[in-house]
Amino acid sequence: MTDSLRERLEGFLRWYHDLYGGNWYVENRETLEALLRGEAAAGGDSALEQFHRQIQDCTRCPLGKTRTRFVFGSGNENAEIMLIGEAPGRDEDLQGQPFVGRSGQLLTKMLARIGLKRQEVYIANILKCRPPNNRNPEPAEVDTCLPYLQRQIEMIQPKILIALGKVAAQTLLGSEAGMAGLRNRLWQYRNIPLIVTFHPAYLLRNESALEEGVRDLQFALAQYQKNQPR
Ligand code: URA
Repeated sequence: MTDSLRERLEGFLRWYHDLYGGNWYVENRETLEALLRGEAAAGGDSALEQFHRQIQDCTRCPLGKTRTRFVFGSGNENAEIMLIGEAPGRDEDLQGQPFVGRSGQLLTKMLARIGLKRQEVYIANILKCRPPNNRNPEPAEVDTCLPYLQRQIEMIQPKILIALGKVAAQTLLGSEAGMAGLRNRLWQYRNIPLIVTFHPAYLLRNESALEEGVRDLQFALAQYQKNQPR
């Protein structure tokens, strides 16, 4: 077995054990493969997974025709911390998972800096399908797709939301403010505390802002911890 396969397998076993304890629910090869791809509760009957299946063939907007894969979201369905990006990019469109490209790798490292693993949080986007050439989402696409994310948030019931970048923040907050007005404040989205930070793609282009981005995540974590029962 190669080191990378062993690492993935060990990670998977840890994640699976965290999620299901000692019970094994793997029924078939597709289920196991889906679990290995990190799709929470794959093959199971969780309400969130049922919802995924219901909407995964969506063609309610033109992106349904141009996408390769529908990117529902990934992570721990019981996560108390949920991160929301803008829309799938090329890698996400190909793999059907959010934040798996370069931005995603940076996001994973930033989460690690504040002591979080990706499998502890849930990650989704404002749009479920990739806009061609990664252009900004059109308002009509956002209006069409947003109810899916809203339903996901209702189902996951996170204790804190982290909006990654201006598009996610402005959409969720119904604001036109720029990043300077959005960061460093505690917002509420439907009674859930929300913190805004830079999009990881921005940080890839502006490395000098990285530490500020990590501080934003620390701020979000501190807000979350403050509201935890002792
Ligand atoms: N950028 C996003 O906003 N979301 C992704 O899933 C990937 C890149």
